[in-house]
Amino acid sequence: MPAAAAKLRLAETVKEADLVIDGVTMRFETREGAVTAVDDMSFSVERGEFVSIIGPSGCGKSTVFNILGGLVRGYEGKVNVGGDLISGPHPSIGMVFQEESTFPWRTVLDNVAFPLEVKGVRKAERHEKARHFIDMVGLNGFEQRYPAELSGGMRQRVAIARTLVFEPKILLMDEPFAALDEQTRLLLGDKVLKIQEELKQTTLLITHNITEAVQLSDRVIIMTFRPGKVKRIVDIRLPRPRTGDVVGSEAFGRHVAEIWNDLREEASRGMAESEAGARRRKA
Ligand SMILES: Nc1ncnc2c1ncn2[C@@H]1O[C@H](COP(=O)(O)OP(=O)(O)O)[C@@H](O)[C@H]1O
Ligand SMILES: [Mg+2]
Repeated sequence: MPAAAAKLRLAETVKEADLVIDGVTMRFETREGAVTAVDDMSFSVERGEFVSIIGPSGCGKSTVFNILGGLVRGYEGKVNVGGDLISGPHPSIGMVFQEESTFPWRTVLDNVAFPLEVKGVRKAERHEKARHFIDMVGLNGFEQRYPAELSGGMRQRVAIARTLVFEPKILLMDEPFAALDEQTRLLLGDKVLKIQEELKQTTLLITHNITEAVQLSDRVIIMTFRPGKVKRIVDIRLPRPRTGDVVGSEAFGRHVAEIWNDLREEASRGMAESEAGARRRKA
């Protein structure tokens, strides 16, 4: 493609994209020397698209997540959110973290209503909105419970509802279901599919679970193990609207096999490295 045409095409995609990571590299200084966590990564997420990033533990996924959230500085390259070059958190972004992040001293209702409380929204209005999103994640009836009275999957849904209540245009999630068992994870996946259909948010999900990535995504970005680069981007050609049944289809199985094929090598390198690390510590 001639350079001018290539430039034009990039400009077009950037216009429609909500998230653009362009040549991002991030190095950390550690006691063992510099670690390149992310190496020259470029990708974009279109408006309304659901994209997953998959890669083995330690490949730089959370670093990408934190960079997009505007929580990390000192990287090379450019990050555009909703058309703006960012240098800190962008108001269009809502984040769901891997760690449990509910407030134990607040009921479900007051957990979910919290961002609106900070914004100064009146009690009746914020409770009404909170109830809507509590219903959306399937927790109606639990409004007056405390996090300690809920299962891990339910607490994670509270955290998701609390992020949704702010109605972010772009949703970033870092392994939100990692601590859950497979069945709960698949059921929560159904919920996420429904929410996505209703809100049509641009979503970037970080995961190390292949089933989850295929079930939910329009595209899956496979990362290499350290330094984290884009290894391949896979289009998930499964019809929408999707339901949980899609997991049993032949096309689903083919996508899972295809992704595992690429990921296996990276996962083995990750495993070899962590075993070598364990041996060094033992010695
Ligand atoms: N704040 C930090 N300081 C030093 N090293 C870090 C920091 N954050 C991440 N790293 C290193 O960068 C690499 C990628 O980490 P991370 O992005 O958390 O990976 P993932 O989320 O894929 O498991 C790892 O080697 C990790 O130890
Ligand atoms: Mg991580």
